[in-house]
Amino acid sequence: MSERTCLAIILAAGEGTRMKSAMSKVLHPVGGLPMVAHVVRAASAAGVGDVALVVGRDADEVEKAARPHASGVSVQLQVERLGTGNAVLAARDAINKGYDDLIVLFGDTPLIDTAALLNARARLAAGADVVVLGFRPSDPTGYGRLIEEDGQVMAIREEREASAEEKKVGFCNGGLMAIRGDDALAMLEKINNNNKRKEYYLTDIVEIAHALGKLVVSLEVDATSILGVNSRVELAEAESLFQDKIRKKMMLDGVSLLAPETVFFSWDTEVGSDTTIEPNVYFGTKVKIASGVTIHAFCHIEGATIATGAQVGPFARLRPGADLREGSKAGNFVEIKKSVISKGAKVNHLTYIGDAEVGENANIGAGTITCNYDGYNKFVTKIGAGAFIGSNSALVAPVSIGNGSIVAAGSV
Ligand code: UD1
Ligand code: MG
Repeated sequence: MSERTCLAIILAAGEGTRMKSAMSKVLHPVGGLPMVAHVVRAASAAGVGDVALVVGRDADEVEKAARPHASGVSVQLQVERLGTGNAVLAARDAINKGYDDLIVLFGDTPLIDTAALLNARARLAAGADVVVLGFRPSDPTGYGRLIEEDGQVMAIREEREASAEEKKVGFCNGGLMAIRGDDALAMLEKINNNNKRKEYYLTDIVEIAHALGKLVVSLEVDATSILGVNSRVELAEAESLFQDKIRKKMMLDGVSLLAPETVFFSWDTEVGSDTTIEPNVYFGTKVKIASGVTIHAFCHIEGATIATGAQVGPFARLRPGADLREGSKAGNFVEIKKSVISKGAKVNHLTYIGDAEVGENANIGAGTITCNYDGYNKFVTKIGAGAFIGSNSALVAPVSIGNGSIVAAGSV
């Protein structure tokens, strides 16, 4: 199968009006990553080299969100939102390059997993012409129904076109379709808009394929992997499923979570084994934590690097560029931004450290503030190794405190 070529077509031109947002639906994040980027990553992880991204509104932003996550992303503009069938045809130039397999994915399905993509491609390799991912949601309302006969999918009926009998079908179209490349274009071009919505439904390709004597099969997947996000309620559902998955993975990789349901990770959070994370901790993007670290309860951490043996919190805020080295400490009510806290240094209580270098084994007393901003510019504070900064000191940057120096409490 691996030698078969494949193009993933990701539909991301939807308006998503039910999101009630100024931003395109597919740019809304799950685990800190835009939904469309999750879909691109799944395609890329399934070994799909070429991705045709169909965009409409917010084209530049959607492209920017997607491009870093696969090697060959081309952008295709769908001028008018005329339906999913029309959207796929916006990728006509890419399809024309000639691929063995086409996979159509929706940009609003962030939890899609690589295994489903691989299985769909395997079915094509085994002789199917069209493979439709099906699932059984607790409430099928709104989804297209898979009408099956003798192990084949005969048609997909959209909710608004379905008869009372067809609406009783609980097996639904997940949205992902794999199509043999050779005559996909000919079939796609046959889709018309003779329906209640005057939309080009991609789902009509199933009946078209049948009329041509082709084999259309379904592949059932878990409802959680194919959840389509059309509102913020579903966005929250997707987030919750995503968090469950990442927490489980962390724990299986050797991270202790005392109350997993209260810890929120980003898609790119890295945590080493034998690190313990206490309850109620939030990780924004770009956080790297080594092994043997303790994150105490109630911390907010983003863009930070934390080395072995370091301790953070409770109630600490680490902002981008916080770099805690081996065995260092950032205690309660401490905020650290763009600063190195060297090996063994301690910042234990009620302190703001910004744009600073704190030397090895330095001790920063309670209530210390690096005054890094004069209202116009930011300046650097340097604190030498072994220095002792007395409580309630204001270090007005730029300022340098030498190795081993002592600053008396209450100094400015
Ligand atoms: C679609 C399917 C339905 C399926 C459901 C699964 C069709 C006709 N219906 O319905 O059978 O059960 O998904 O979630 O395919 N898009 C464009 N251009 C368009 C229209 C849509 O790019 O002109 C994109 C949207 O950004 C979205 C995706 O295609 O990512 C699906 O569109 P959406 O409007 O959400 O379709 P559903 O009504 O959910
Ligand atoms: Mg949808």
